[in-house]
Amino acid sequence: MKNLLVTGGAGFVGVNFVRYVVANQPGVHVTVLDKLTYAGNRINLAGLPADRVKLVVGDIADPVVVNRLVAETDAVINYAAESHNDRSLRNPAPFMQTNIGGTYTLLEACRKFDVRYHQISTDEVYGDLPISSAQQPEEKFTTQSRYQPSSPYSATKASADLLVGAWVRSFGVRATISNCSNNYGPYQYSEKFIPRQITNILSGRRPKLYGAGANIRDWIHVDDHSRAVWEILTRGKIGETYLIGANGEHSNREVLALILKLMGQPADAFDFVKDRPGHDARYAIDASKLQQTLGWQPQVTDFEAGLERTIRWYQDHEVWWRDSKATVEAGYRENGQ
Ligand code: NAD
Ligand code: DAU
Repeated sequence: MKNLLVTGGAGFVGVNFVRYVVANQPGVHVTVLDKLTYAGNRINLAGLPADRVKLVVGDIADPVVVNRLVAETDAVINYAAESHNDRSLRNPAPFMQTNIGGTYTLLEACRKFDVRYHQISTDEVYGDLPISSAQQPEEKFTTQSRYQPSSPYSATKASADLLVGAWVRSFGVRATISNCSNNYGPYQYSEKFIPRQITNILSGRRPKLYGAGANIRDWIHVDDHSRAVWEILTRGKIGETYLIGANGEHSNREVLALILKLMGQPADAFDFVKDRPGHDARYAIDASKLQQTLGWQPQVTDFEAGLERTIRWYQDHEVWWRDSKATVEAGYRENGQ
């Protein structure tokens, strides 16, 4: 695979994958197809060699641009999505259009040109686990778990996964799916939990915790996600689904306490705010299939050290987040959050 089409490659998880490929896979050329929504930024690709990475600004739901690009690629890795649960509660329409319509358009192009396809999905397709289940470490999502998404965002991601499965079975499209847990690291837009709290502190605002802060997320460093996707893309079995996670379960309150400590703030320097409607309680990934069949293991196993590096990145890249910060916070204020 020498020519990859990475959709959504100017957003958080996508750009980290593009950077991983450039750094670790010599001879591979990446074309990024990105609509540059509020979450995509061409600056994220700055500094990458022009002979290795090309940006095409366009929509994955547009068959003209998609067919042109898919015709000349060896594999498509679909990171492009509307990705934020809170936004999907305010306006589900773009989620339907991009996450379902866009996936359909990409699958049809891969069918037409017989191109390998990988769908970047989320653990949220499985709904949630009760918080009390955290006492039983074996109670985690597996590839056998039932699809029961809670939000418009996760429902559109679940729908897209079902399309991929059908295109494999009915049309023989050479596709795989990966469902990953919550990512953290550089380039994450400041509306998401970890960058929001870090940039709140850096801009003199107080961090905001939804509800009682008891909800649990299973954190993985974005670099470990990128390595897993590469393994699945190059060595995964067609038609299979792989779960990606790094045993990184923490309650939101624990994560915020760590951020406050690492940033030298008092432990009570935050506000409890209105909870998210339908808020998923706990996510937890059993990644044993990926570990046993492809030998992947997470490398960033010290969450505190990973978080410290992430905080430093936001401290060093204030120009990157400062301009959009006020807009993000105005949206949350309107929402009572
Ligand atoms: P993001 O919102 O930061 O980035 C999404 C990118 O997709 C942006 O660059 C945006 O401009 C682009 N995009 C949106 N609509 C598009 C369209 N119609 N055509 C082309 N480009 C479009 O999202 P993210 O957090 O980087 O997530 C990327 C993917 O990873 C998503 O599919 C998401 O479901 C999945 N995922 C994310 C996480 C996480 O913790 N962030 C975890 C598991 C899975
Ligand atoms: O599990 C994978 C998913 O993780 C991805 O599919 C999504 O694209 C990604 O956005 C993420 O979804 P979450 O809803 O878990 O992420 P978010 O960063 O929005 O919130 C994480 C947790 O923190 C969640 O329980 C809500 C809470 N939260 C969030 C914000 C923004 C707060 O307590 N305060 C906040 O200010």
